[in-house]
Amino acid sequence: MTTPRKVHIKSYGCQMNVYDAQRMVDTLAPEGFVETASVDDADLVILNTCHIREKASEKVYSELGRLRTVKDEAARNGREMRIAVAGCVAQAEGSEIIRRERAVDIVVGPQSYHHLPQLLAKAKTDGRAIETEFPVEDKFASLPDPKPAVIRARGISSFVTVQEGCDKFCTFCVVPYTRGMEVSRPVARIIDDVQRLADNGVREITLIGQNVNAFHGDGDDGKPWSLGRLLYRLAQIPGVARLRYSTSHPRDVDDALIEAHRDIPAVMPFVHLPVQSGSDRILEAMNRKHTAADYARTVERFRKVREDIAFSSDFIVGFPGETEEDFSATLALVRQISYAGAYSFKYSPRPGTPAADMQETVTTTLMDERLARLQELIDSQQAAFNAAAIGKTVDVLFERAARNPGQIVGRTAYLQPAHVMASPDIIGQVLPVTIDSLERYSLIGALAGSAPSHAAPFSQPANTSPPAMTGA
Ligand code: 5AD
Ligand code: SF4
Repeated sequence: MTTPRKVHIKSYGCQMNVYDAQRMVDTLAPEGFVETASVDDADLVILNTCHIREKASEKVYSELGRLRTVKDEAARNGREMRIAVAGCVAQAEGSEIIRRERAVDIVVGPQSYHHLPQLLAKAKTDGRAIETEFPVEDKFASLPDPKPAVIRARGISSFVTVQEGCDKFCTFCVVPYTRGMEVSRPVARIIDDVQRLADNGVREITLIGQNVNAFHGDGDDGKPWSLGRLLYRLAQIPGVARLRYSTSHPRDVDDALIEAHRDIPAVMPFVHLPVQSGSDRILEAMNRKHTAADYARTVERFRKVREDIAFSSDFIVGFPGETEEDFSATLALVRQISYAGAYSFKYSPRPGTPAADMQETVTTTLMDERLARLQELIDSQQAAFNAAAIGKTVDVLFERAARNPGQIVGRTAYLQPAHVMASPDIIGQVLPVTIDSLERYSLIGALAGSAPSHAAPFSQPANTSPPAMTGA
């Protein structure tokens, strides 16, 4: 028997990259690769990069410098290590990476991961291999499936890609350049994936895409389906207890999506709906094509059909030209909407985007100050939202044993971690939990009907939800 080769993947950025990393592992498994947690014994190291903010490519080059040392050391010990750069920096930088860093063997863009085995073979014969082509961009015709099926199910909750890319061209954003135009997967393939995951014990599916509610995949009736219609269909698959989707654009919220929230209990009442700014002037400069009032109206449409719905968002502070008045409008919108949580970022110019050519007007100090004010407001809303769960009985989908012995952890509809003392048999079930306290971001409670647990506090990383999806 041949010894398995080992692949180590280091992922940065959004949920799409987390999903892509798993898919790369699945693609390499038939080649005899198994995953390793360490760089040192890896035969193949993949840096799955993100380009959305900050000096992403410089970080990649310094990481590659470190990897070069490990690779050289391996070579001295007679062991060959290959290094691949994947993700959005690979897409943006292309052959420049190979030119600048001799340690890199493969550069692979997000649309080409299914070719990794061929790229490895090519690197072996030619020394280097690069593939960053976008697939032919004919959206409704015989498109190759941009994201082939997930092969193995892991855990209780799983992502499924339904679309990739974005045509919105917000002026600050690299996604349309690194992930390409919006492409949706055919409905039948998505149903197959979800079916297979559900058969393997997955109870919660999060449909992901940079602009997920722009989804328009071909249905078996030959017509494009909306995300709302897809949710109705997926909810019929036995075993699927919860459906989520991320990330949505306010302009693509149609009636079918709102109705899905009204009609389908499995569709969770928690929507990540980035607005970026509360100032119409800045929204215009960002090319968002909606106003703050449009956004608030969209939120109201959701709230009208499900009063328990909650929202999270993304914000950018310090966009070129943002005045104190513009920033106040953002704070005012946050107060008006009242979020269960939100991500906020300092603007960072992305090379090649229109905003990168705009005169930057907000100093770093002012950006820091605005970010702190915004985060303080969002944190207070998040704390109030979490505190409101105390004394209530809420449904929790149990996912795994917690660090504290005897505790099982799951998530509420709003992705809040919830801990109870219980038998591991409850993993995979949605059960009502009476919440009795809040420990940082985690809810502590007891299964409804059982005695209060007084479960020991549990500390969780300071975030209630998985990392924000890049996009929308
Ligand atoms: N600068 C700062 N934040 C950005 N984002 C996207 N591009 C930039 C940028 N150039 C943020 C947006 C988006 C989230 C994924 O990242 O808020 O919604
Ligand atoms: Fe598209 Fe979102 Fe980027 Fe705008 S911010 S271009 S909607 S991915």
